[in-house]
Amino acid sequence: MWRPAVRRFGFCSRCARKLIAEARLLRPASMATVTLKGVKKIYDNKVTAVHDFNLEIADKEFIVLVGPSGCGKSTTLRMVAGLEDISEGDLFIGDKRMNDVEPKDRDIAMVFQSYALYPHMTVYENMAFALKLRKLPKDEIDRKVREAAEILDITQYLERRPKALSGGQRQRVAIGRAIVRDPKVFLMDEPLSNLDAKLRNQMRAEIIKLRQRINTTFIYVTHDQTEAMTLGDRIVIMKDGFIQQIGTPQEVFNHPANLFVAGFIGSPQMNFFDAELTKSGSAYSLKVAGAVMALDGETQEKLASCGVESCKVIAGVRPEHITFAPDSAEHTLTGSVDVSEMMGSELHLHANVEGKDVVLRVPTTELPSEHRGGIPYGTQVHFTFRPDLIHLFNPENEQNLI
Ligand SMILES: Nc1ncnc2c1ncn2[C@@H]1O[C@H](COP(=O)(O)OP(=O)(O)OP(=O)(O)O)[C@@H](O)[C@H]1O
Ligand SMILES: [Mg+2]
Repeated sequence: MWRPAVRRFGFCSRCARKLIAEARLLRPASMATVTLKGVKKIYDNKVTAVHDFNLEIADKEFIVLVGPSGCGKSTTLRMVAGLEDISEGDLFIGDKRMNDVEPKDRDIAMVFQSYALYPHMTVYENMAFALKLRKLPKDEIDRKVREAAEILDITQYLERRPKALSGGQRQRVAIGRAIVRDPKVFLMDEPLSNLDAKLRNQMRAEIIKLRQRINTTFIYVTHDQTEAMTLGDRIVIMKDGFIQQIGTPQEVFNHPANLFVAGFIGSPQMNFFDAELTKSGSAYSLKVAGAVMALDGETQEKLASCGVESCKVIAGVRPEHITFAPDSAEHTLTGSVDVSEMMGSELHLHANVEGKDVVLRVPTTELPSEHRGGIPYGTQVHFTFRPDLIHLFNPENEQNLI
């Protein structure tokens, strides 16, 4: 390739090769796909924290790992970062296998829950530190730090020490320190969990904006399902070191793969009932606590195409998919109000149905004016389920029936 350049411009071959090598360095970064194949982590104490983790993350995708405490989220992230060895399986960034590559050579940046700022350095020095280590020219460091500070709106704090900043400001600095490195992959482990609820919501929106501006591949860990739903292009739901489901927020919400995902995603949590599914001819009916609930045509078709016969099931229905009925009827449940939580725009109603707590979420505007402040304890209420929004699970293996 350099030979024509030598001929055309009269460069010596050594100069031509150097020029071409520099041009290669200037090319846009290669695709930052991240692939985990059969990745497993067994700690020294024989705890298997992650089992057979398989995931292909697209270039510039925002992936969220979510699940309860101890399910292996941080372990997975730390294996991607190179802070933990991978016990089995392969990790690729782009098409390069990374298992044995030093963390500093993986072209990733990580933001931790604890911020991990250097207390004796100013904000500016904190952000510039990694670039100084890389021996970047001073004016380039200055440009990158000021650009990141601008994006994160912390320019006015550049000369302060971390201890003179609020939690949210410190977290911005921690994110800024990662941004200046122009990483191919951005890893974040519960970056917002030290912040109060209001600041957390604000920073969540900031992260969405940040993502639009820096356009990098993100892997984000949280135990908060709202954060997962609002941030992720796709969500990976984990439990006990196993992936339970991978999907877009809509997919996991509308079609949870199993009982765990159904209960984990959505707030307040989905209601579950022991129920009986009966097939007569080609039609199915669902009996829940004495009431016969209608199932819509599409659900019935899917049940039939999955070859489901009459059986015991667990029926799940989200609090917002229960609607009031005018009076007692074959397809209604009747309960007495235990707790009525006024949330402003909606009411969370706990109704006692034969000893079972059923939660309903009712927009305040749909309530008669005398009940907009809440429904008194002991009031009898009748309600039914939206026929197209009932989820059915196998009680034995807890998998979705369709
Ligand atoms: N260094 C370690 N040595 C041994 N076991 C560990 C180590 N770190 C984590 N574990 C165990 O591995 C499992 C997964 O831990 P991990 O920190 O990945 O969970 P997590 O999903 O990040 O939880 P959290 O939401 O509480 O941060 C847990 O059972 C934990 O006790
Ligand atoms: Mg963790």
